[in-house]
Amino acid sequence: MDHFQYRDGVMHAEDLPLPVIAEQVGTPCYVYSRATLERHARVFREGLEKAGDIHLAFAVKANPNLAVLRILANQGYGADVVSGGELERALAAGMKAEDIVFSGVGKSRSELLLGLDRGIGQFNLESEEEGIMLAEIAAARGQKAPATLRVNPDVDAGTHAKISTGKKENKFGVAIDIAPDIYQRLSELDGLDLRGVAVHIGSQLQQLEPLEKCYERMGQLVEQLRGAGHEITHVDLGGGLGVPYTPDENPPSPADYGDMVARVTKGWNVTLMFEPGRVIAGNSGVMMTQVIRIKPGVNSDFVIVDAAMNDLMRPAIYDAWHHFEAVRPTGETMTASIVGPICESSDIFAKEREVDRVVTDDLGIFRTAGAYGATMANTYNSRPLVPEVLVDGDRYAVVAERIEPATIMAAEHVPDWLKQGG
Ligand code: LLP
Repeated sequence: MDHFQYRDGVMHAEDLPLPVIAEQVGTPCYVYSRATLERHARVFREGLEKAGDIHLAFAVKANPNLAVLRILANQGYGADVVSGGELERALAAGMKAEDIVFSGVGKSRSELLLGLDRGIGQFNLESEEEGIMLAEIAAARGQKAPATLRVNPDVDAGTHAKISTGKKENKFGVAIDIAPDIYQRLSELDGLDLRGVAVHIGSQLQQLEPLEKCYERMGQLVEQLRGAGHEITHVDLGGGLGVPYTPDENPPSPADYGDMVARVTKGWNVTLMFEPGRVIAGNSGVMMTQVIRIKPGVNSDFVIVDAAMNDLMRPAIYDAWHHFEAVRPTGETMTASIVGPICESSDIFAKEREVDRVVTDDLGIFRTAGAYGATMANTYNSRPLVPEVLVDGDRYAVVAERIEPATIMAAEHVPDWLKQGG
């Protein structure tokens, strides 16, 4: 459930009519609903609480906006970060260092050092080599780095190939069959406080079965590690729960997920850690756009909007579906392709789709854009970086400004020797 609804024929975010934002902030822009974010954070927690001692770390990559992170910090969430930049963001937003988990397949020496320096709660190691490097840096500083070993369970998450991470050919984690040996060797290093294992098999999961299979394998691994004398206190079960992008998608609810987790992890006697991203932020945001003009096409008309693939990349790179709705629908529909102004055929949001009828200057939204939306935006074609707005009841704030090409150009330099024609 979200708080983007029609009232008196006009799409609102909570109690605020979207045209107010379009007029005052301009388009394209992202609009987030605070109430929706808080609701999702609560529902996810309530779903998982029955599984015992839990730690929730929002996957910052899904939506790193500082205001969004602050809302989640207030809901008691920590952060799952994958870069030094995300780590600094989580701290700047008010998340506690000890609630931060550092994931990611290529943490650099300086990022490992940053994590140690800030005193983060846990490093999820992706390889033996990374563990050795972290141990060296930590030992030299007289520290012991709290860490888990990320395991690749070789489970097909049944999701888009580009966002599947738990098959043996993927670059993530260490293969589950060699994990015990690697764990043993890492546990002997002075600079590490190895306390468990981690896993994440992919994103936008539609079924619980792959997760269940994966967690069963993790249970066996925990037993095996304990059998070898290791003290296992933490198991990170990753993120990945899907959200409905289309009316026929029906991903598992946090409550059903929690039931499964409680059943499979019964008796593990560990702190269970989760890294949800999309399920918290996805339906909490929309991207609003304005129609520039309608252009007749061969198969159907083109609705050319002022948003483009640089603002919302998911359709271009994953063929993702984002539901389009007019902000002031007339009740009529049309079959059209909705495209942006960028000079690429991949700059298309909807292909020959039946959508609300719109005309020049009308406003529309793409739904379910709160996760992996603004965070993946860029300035291709020298377009501005898309702004973000947070709505709370009938008030709003611009929580990320539109960054104009002039600001970006100010960071570029033509060397004097080129100016002088040398
Ligand atoms: N933990 C780890 C280690 C991850 O790699 C990810 C996502 C998550 C947690 C959060 O997963 P979520 O709960 O959001 O599914 N850009 C793609 C999604 C990439 C996800 C990468 N990893 C998209 O737009 O669909």
